[in-house]
Amino acid sequence: MNNIWSENIQGIKTLYLSRKLRFDDFFYGQYEKLFSLDKSQNLKILEIGCGPGALASALHRWYPNAEIVAIDRDSNFIEYAKENISGVKFIEGDATVLPFEADTFDVTISHTVCEHIEPTIFYAEQKRVLRDNGVCLVLSARKGIKHLAECLKMTKAEKEFWDSITDEENILEKYAVGKYSMTEQELPMAMENNGFANVSTGYAVIDLTPDNPKYSSQMAEDIINSERASELEAVQSVKSAETNRIVDVINEKYDSRIELYRKGNKQWDTITSITMIIRGINKK
Ligand SMILES: C[S@@+](CC[C@H](N)C(=O)[O-])C[C@H]1O[C@@H](n2cnc3c(N)ncnc32)[C@H](O)[C@@H]1O
Repeated sequence: MNNIWSENIQGIKTLYLSRKLRFDDFFYGQYEKLFSLDKSQNLKILEIGCGPGALASALHRWYPNAEIVAIDRDSNFIEYAKENISGVKFIEGDATVLPFEADTFDVTISHTVCEHIEPTIFYAEQKRVLRDNGVCLVLSARKGIKHLAECLKMTKAEKEFWDSITDEENILEKYAVGKYSMTEQELPMAMENNGFANVSTGYAVIDLTPDNPKYSSQMAEDIINSERASELEAVQSVKSAETNRIVDVINEKYDSRIELYRKGNKQWDTITSITMIIRGINKK
């Protein structure tokens, strides 16, 4: 249908690797309580705006009896998800005109999507495709905590590179990114005002601190490399004679960080994300 998101806003790697960590099994206990879904039932779950599919993949692991369907309008994301994730039916389509009949799903879920779609349409479509007493779960990223290791701070070469890029277009405005962002107070209010009952809220705190001994060395290095991939993807999206040089600079920074980690030289850098979960029931 289109490639707006993957080509202009966030690339496949940036989204997939960061979300793979955010929805790692390590954090399932938090989501399990907040989702409050009946695991024993053969639920039919729809993920809206699934991107490259990390949450849908986690849902398949966490709710093995469920049928998981995931939809996004970005063709690149859906193509990637179909090739890399099993157990989920991925569909290219628009959340404002969901290609499903009324009363099809027991659960609808979305992560960092509600802020991009006009709320009355966003909720009306979910109300329509949800069965009576179906559960609507909206996950929204809140302001988190970020502290960089000294070796990961922006170098002079990177700063000069980014300063030299003249970005005339306001991409976020052009594609209505975050146009419908809401506060922690407005989010449950919007769900309630759009016809959902028993609305409740909660927060999952995803502490991505590689030096924290609670994480395996694999997880710690995945945390570091997820940020590496995101920085590389941003630089590689710029066509410049300097791009390759800056790619090397970024790789050197992250190689140093991995080396410090392996030596046990703790930096205590952290990317801790806070996800608000709003849960409501569809009453028909
Ligand atoms: C911030 S990304 C989040 C992706 C995914 N949920 C994740 O957390 O990785 C927002 C996603 O919403 C999708 N999206 C935005 N508007 C949409 C619409 N009207 N219909 C379907 N997908 C939409 C974009 O293509 C993008 O994949």
